[in-house]
Amino acid sequence: MRDQKTGRPVLLDCDPGIDDALAIFMALASDELKVEAITTVAGNVPVEHTARNALQLVELAGFDVEVAAGASDPLYSKKKTAESVHGKNGIGDIILNPPKGALSCRTARELIYQKALEQAGDLEIIATGPLTNLASALMIYPDLRNLISHIWLMGGSAYSGNRTPAAEFNIYADPHAASIVFESGIPLTMCGLDVTNKALIFKEDIERLAGYDSDVAKKSAEMLTWYLGFYNSFGFKGLAMHDPFTVAAAIDPTLIETKHLFVDVETVGEFTRGQTVVDLLNVSGKKPNVQVALELDNTRFLSLFEKLMRFYG
Ligand code: BDR
Ligand code: CA
Repeated sequence: MRDQKTGRPVLLDCDPGIDDALAIFMALASDELKVEAITTVAGNVPVEHTARNALQLVELAGFDVEVAAGASDPLYSKKKTAESVHGKNGIGDIILNPPKGALSCRTARELIYQKALEQAGDLEIIATGPLTNLASALMIYPDLRNLISHIWLMGGSAYSGNRTPAAEFNIYADPHAASIVFESGIPLTMCGLDVTNKALIFKEDIERLAGYDSDVAKKSAEMLTWYLGFYNSFGFKGLAMHDPFTVAAAIDPTLIETKHLFVDVETVGEFTRGQTVVDLLNVSGKKPNVQVALELDNTRFLSLFEKLMRFYG
């Protein structure tokens, strides 16, 4: 088993998910972060898969981190999954060793709250799936909003969607939950499609990764090859590293340029459900609630990605 890192305490709330898998490997490898726990949610695939995947990924990485399963359905809407992007099992139908350990006996929302209490206000959340776990924890434990120091979110966009023309997948999958989180008052950095669609890697990068001397890198390359197939089917040459980029921004916030803006989440629109409505010109006059990432340094992101993947060998 590898030693835990000693960086800033973070909890990963995710739905692995091929890019979530890479995000988990990066967060575990970073000296800047200490992964206190991982909670999973229904998103790319049902929660049974996302929880099992997270446990298998942590074991493959050689770390001992508590993994808890969370919400199996959005708060008030019907479940939306993304098997066409991530495969039936959520990780490109790549088979990992069956888990040796067990999932936590705590629920995701209990674990989020208890870790937040333990860290006495210092816990940061990196959220790379629908926000159901976090929103339901905030509803049950009203003091939680004062115990989380920052949320780094992969979700939303200022300009356009990927699940619908208006909405990004993580927000579209549970817009009511996103709305609760955006209104919580917790400092929030939104790494939406405005930046993550530009955090691209290509076939050559994946081939290089496959050559690294570790199972983590080899399995990552297999998963990314599957994911690239999806992107290629739309005529894209590269694939967007949504969740890994968000972890990178949490590790090194100088990778992004943000604007502090007011953002609302559309929960009912016929064509715009799940849209993050970003008030770029402050026409509403409302107090900004989100640091919206609008620019990125992709070259430095890629070198951080390679450095962290090299950690495994
Ligand atoms: C987000 O949706 C999921 O499919 C990915 O894992 C990422 O978190 C991108 O829109
Ligand atoms: Ca995800």
